[in-house]
Amino acid sequence: MIGLSDTTVLGQVSGEACVVTDHYGVFQSLSGSGQWQPLFGYFDPANPYGQADTVVVFMPKAKAELELRLRLAGALLAPAGRLVLLGEKREGIASAVKRLKAISGSVAKVDSARHCQVWLAESVTSLSALSIADWLTWHTVEEAGVAVDVAGLPGIFSDGRLDKGTRLLLQSLAGEPVAGPVLDFACGAGVIGAWLQGWAADQGQSLTVDGVDVQAQAVECARQTYLRAGAHGQISPGDGLADVSGRYAAIVTNPPFHSGVRNDTSMTERFLAQAARHLTSGGELRLVANRFLPYERLINRHVGPARVVAQDPRFTVYSAKRH
Ligand SMILES: C[S@@+](CC[C@H](N)C(=O)[O-])C[C@H]1O[C@@H](n2cnc3c(N)ncnc32)[C@H](O)[C@@H]1O
Repeated sequence: MIGLSDTTVLGQVSGEACVVTDHYGVFQSLSGSGQWQPLFGYFDPANPYGQADTVVVFMPKAKAELELRLRLAGALLAPAGRLVLLGEKREGIASAVKRLKAISGSVAKVDSARHCQVWLAESVTSLSALSIADWLTWHTVEEAGVAVDVAGLPGIFSDGRLDKGTRLLLQSLAGEPVAGPVLDFACGAGVIGAWLQGWAADQGQSLTVDGVDVQAQAVECARQTYLRAGAHGQISPGDGLADVSGRYAAIVTNPPFHSGVRNDTSMTERFLAQAARHLTSGGELRLVANRFLPYERLINRHVGPARVVAQDPRFTVYSAKRH
C-alpha cells in the first residue's frame, strides 16, 4: 500500500502487506505491530522490489507525487502484478487514470461511492528499483543577500520557489536575529536553517539549526540542502514535537495548516501548546502564519506575549519570549 493515511483500513485486509508512507506518524503507529511492515518514504532501502502481487496506490495531494507513487508501484510489483488506484474526485482521480493507462493495457473502474473511485490496472509492466538521484531537483533562493541551494522531491512544500510566508520570516530574522541553538519546526526542505546559517556566517557568527519534519521527502531534502550548504544541525523525522528532546534558545517555524486537501490547524495548535517546553528560559518563538489563522491568542496563552515583528497583506510574523 502506497500512501495510506488512515490505518484503520488495515483491519479489513488479510494477508501480508507493506505500507509505504511518507508520514512519520503513520510509520510510527505501524512500527512493531508485527502484521504490517511499514516503510518510511519512497526511497526506503527496505522496499520489497519485484515482490508484490498487488500494489494499492492512494491519490496524493501533489500531481508530481502521483508519478513517483506509480513509478514505485511498478518497481514493487512482481511480473504481471495488479495495481489498484483509489481516491476522491477532488483529489484528481479522473485525470490520474490517464497515467495508469500509460503503464497498463487493461484498466477498468471497479467501484465508486461517496465521491471516490477505485480503478484496477492488470498486467502492469514491472520496473527497476527507484534511485533518489533521478528525482532530486535543485533551485536557488535568495534573501537579504544570502543565497541558498534548496533540494526538491515530489510532494515537498513550495518546490522550486521560496514561499512568500517563509520569505517574510527570513526578512524578520535578518532584521531581528535570533540566538542559537535554534530549532526549525516543520523544516520542509531545510531552507530556513540553511539560510539562517548563511546569514549568521556573513555576520561572522556561527549558528546550529536542528530541523524536524513529519514528511520523508522533507527530511531527505533538508539533509541534502544542509550537506550542500555545509550547514550544521540534526535533521530528524518527527510528528509534532513528540520526538524532540532538546531545549532551544529559539524555535523558528512556518508551521503546517493543511492536512491532505483540507485546511487543518490542529497540528499547529498542538505544537504551540508544547513549544514552551522546548525553549530555554526567555527563549523565543518566531512564527509566520497566514493572517487569518488564530494563533496570536494561543501564543499568548502557551508561550508568552505575542508581538508582531513583520506583516504583509497575507502573512504575519509573531515573536514571543517564553513566560
Ligand atoms: C508550511 S511548510 C514549511 C516548510 C519549510 N519550513 C519552509 O518554510 O519552506 C510546513 C511543513 O510542515 C510539515 N508538517 C506537517 N505536519 C507536521 C507534523 N505533524 N509534524 C512536523 N512537521 C509537519 C510539512 O511536511 C511541511 O514540510
